[in-house]
Amino acid sequence: MGRIALVTGGTRGIGRAISVALKAAGHRVAANYGGNDAAAKAFAAETGINVYKFDVGDFAQCASAVKQIEAELGPIEILVNNAGITRDAMLHKMTLDQWSAVIRTDLDSLFNVTRQVIEGMRGRGFGRIVNVSSINGQKGQRGQTNYGAAKAGVIGFTKSLALENANQGITVNAVAPGYIATDMVAAVPEEIIKSKIIPQIPVGRLGLADDIARCVLFLAADDSGFITGSTLTANGGQYLA
Ligand code: CAA
Repeated sequence: MGRIALVTGGTRGIGRAISVALKAAGHRVAANYGGNDAAAKAFAAETGINVYKFDVGDFAQCASAVKQIEAELGPIEILVNNAGITRDAMLHKMTLDQWSAVIRTDLDSLFNVTRQVIEGMRGRGFGRIVNVSSINGQKGQRGQTNYGAAKAGVIGFTKSLALENANQGITVNAVAPGYIATDMVAAVPEEIIKSKIIPQIPVGRLGLADDIARCVLFLAADDSGFITGSTLTANGGQYLA
């Protein structure tokens, strides 16, 4: 059954693959993006998916954007909280800006966006919420006290919201990707990827954005109603939580 879906950070990287997969599954998709107008424009032209520019770290912007999306497409029934950034640095070198930017975009966003849709989902008795965490929220990663804290927070948020809504027809789950071949991972020094990261992945390669889209599609399906509060890992065997 076709549903209305919102994917944050939905025009590039993992989010792009999720938006495309949800559309291919018959859903009407709204793809949010934060800053890269050129990429969003190209994505919209290529896929026919509506794009919406707003800052997921800003509560008021999320409120008005969700209103607009719901007026244009209908009530949001599937929410994928995917938007995220990294600002890697060892804590002893990390600035307050690096800390705050990641907590705001990767964790505050879950409150800012989900808060806009949860009452409607409860009222209608149906919802699928999928939050994108990370292997590094599960195992920790040097250079990522900010990102690790936010992504571990995503899992705590997921479990609590799942309990609050388990009797309302709403499931809330997390996906924890490993290292996926996207711009975010490409920002890691190449030498570190080759010498430190790939050798830690038993499957022997970086993941693909489609490997994660597949997980989201499964959790977002109408007939996944008994799966809630879980974290689905897709990391090539790098960390077995
Ligand atoms: N795995 C294992 N070791 C790592 C590592 C990693 N991912 N990243 C850094 N190291 C090691 C370095 O090899 C180095 O080791 P030695 O002291 O033995 O030489 C040590 O950590 C310090 O590294 P640098 O010399 O590079 O120190 P720096 O202060 O200049 O930078 C850093 C530190 C910011 C951590 C930088 O190395 C870096 O960006 N590393 C990558 C961190 C990382 O893996 N981030 C994940 C980004 S992808 C992502 O976040 C998506 C997701 O969800 C998985």
